[in-house]
Amino acid sequence: MVKQVVTTCFVLFHCIISYWAFMSSCSIQSSTKIIIPAIARYFGTRSRYEDVNTYLIDDILAINNSLVTLPSSKCSEIHMTVIIRHGTRYPTTKNIKKMRKFYDLVVRDAAVNWNYLSEIKSQWKMWYTDDMDGRLVDKGREDHRHLAQRLIKWFPSLLTQENVRQRRVKLITSSKHRCVNSTIAFRKGLMEGLNIEDELEISVNDTLMRYFEQCKRFVKEVENNDTALEELQRFNDGPEMKRIVEKMADRLEVPYTNITDESVEAGFFLCAYEFAIQNLNSPWCQLYDEVDAQVLEYAGDLKQYWKRSYGYEINSKSSCILFHDLFHRLDQVVAQINSDDIVSEAVTVQVGHGETLLPLVTLLDLFKDDTHLSSTNFATQHNRIFKSGKIVPYAANLLVVLYKCPEGIRMGVRMNEKSLTLPGLTDPVPMYEDVKKRYRALLEGCDQETVCKINNS
Ligand SMILES: *[C@@H]1O[C@H](CO)[C@@H](O)[C@H](O)[C@H]1NC(C)=O
Ligand SMILES: *[C@@H]1O[C@H](CO)[C@@H](O)[C@H](O)[C@H]1NC(C)=O
Ligand SMILES: *[C@@H]1O[C@H](CO)[C@@H](O)[C@H](O)[C@H]1NC(C)=O
Ligand SMILES: *[C@@H]1O[C@H](CO)[C@@H](O)[C@H](O)[C@H]1NC(C)=O
Ligand SMILES: *[C@@H]1O[C@H](CO)[C@@H](O)[C@H](O)[C@H]1NC(C)=O
Repeated sequence: MVKQVVTTCFVLFHCIISYWAFMSSCSIQSSTKIIIPAIARYFGTRSRYEDVNTYLIDDILAINNSLVTLPSSKCSEIHMTVIIRHGTRYPTTKNIKKMRKFYDLVVRDAAVNWNYLSEIKSQWKMWYTDDMDGRLVDKGREDHRHLAQRLIKWFPSLLTQENVRQRRVKLITSSKHRCVNSTIAFRKGLMEGLNIEDELEISVNDTLMRYFEQCKRFVKEVENNDTALEELQRFNDGPEMKRIVEKMADRLEVPYTNITDESVEAGFFLCAYEFAIQNLNSPWCQLYDEVDAQVLEYAGDLKQYWKRSYGYEINSKSSCILFHDLFHRLDQVVAQINSDDIVSEAVTVQVGHGETLLPLVTLLDLFKDDTHLSSTNFATQHNRIFKSGKIVPYAANLLVVLYKCPEGIRMGVRMNEKSLTLPGLTDPVPMYEDVKKRYRALLEGCDQETVCKINNS
């Protein structure tokens, strides 16, 4: 209580003395601005999209041209494929149960030495119920509606009324309700942005968008394999995690044995979900300092790394079908352009999961560090490229655009609305033929059936 009063007084005082100099910024900060938890940048796959692209916090429909590289003005856009993760969602039932367990422990056993603990115990309600199980929330619908409207701004010559009416815009989704509902919201954003009523059909394709559960070898060797995530288990049993567990037990004044890595993870998830879903900087966030958050982020990244990314070759190879689907479509567009035909698929939107995107960006060699993420290199991997919060926040998207230029067809790639140069190439908007040369081994191989077959060796 005392602490709160002191803080309020300080803020008031600060506002008064700064009044003349900072009138507008001060009043904005104290009234309308949402307070972002200090540890929000460590939320990993539970990150808000606008915390990756912070200019969106002020204007969710803004596009930031300084983040993209365009080819010469003599080029024109002829096609765009975008593969998008679903929007913000509720926790899964499994995580809701862990969160409830930790909440119950805090309410039952924790001391009330801190404001935030008394707030959790007396005011905060455990409002997550098991049936919410990973469903899309309202914020998740907005994520997709707004993304659609920004894409109209990015590609005004591709996302047109005419292309929608002529069915040159295709919507494909995973069958999961959060993806279907994201796609419906994306379509709504398109219809509003283009001012048309026409409803595009949505086709469900799990072979394409949930390829990971159909790849037998991946399921056997990684998904259902208890030792595949060994590095994560070792890290969770290791010194960094042990330290957080002890700090947490000290804060709550409960025996060390009553707190586990699962409990500290659950509280961290509560902080992340309260923020992503409700825009709240909840008292749960006060239970973690920056180092705690970095450690928990690393645990999350280890899981993604070994289960979906560079940890095992089969992780990325399981996305061969999506890779070929993309290049097959791009080839078709190029063939249509070369024979002066109308491009039949101007825009293709594919909605799936973080698990859909990560293996594909891995297959393309993106976000690759020199060393594996392991249970022992937390300290040396601070500046790693592989941070799942930057790669797959909610509504994360990998976008490929083809341009027709006087010298031929060029291709641009953007991750979360930022251009990136494909590793091994120097031109940020290379000739399409050079991209195909770069990925020749995959284009000529990477056969889904072969890579996913379980071999007995
Ligand atoms: C665009 O992004 C850059 C880099 O993140 C940032 O510095 C700049 O302020 C942004 N521009 C706008 C108009 O928001
Ligand atoms: C610790 O956990 C045990 C077993 O669940 C329980 O009986 C005990 O009351 C807990 N102690 C505290 C102080 O939370
Ligand atoms: C989402 O989509 C499902 C069907 O896929 C539907 O039953 C549900 O009402 C929708 N809304 C929410 C909030 O999940
Ligand atoms: C499980 O993963 C470990 C570690 O990669 C590997 O050695 C083992 O062969 C895998 N087991 C199966 C059944 O694939
Ligand atoms: C799903 O996508 C794959 C790959 O592009 C395609 O071969 C298959 O026909 C599609 N299935 C459906 C039901 O559209």
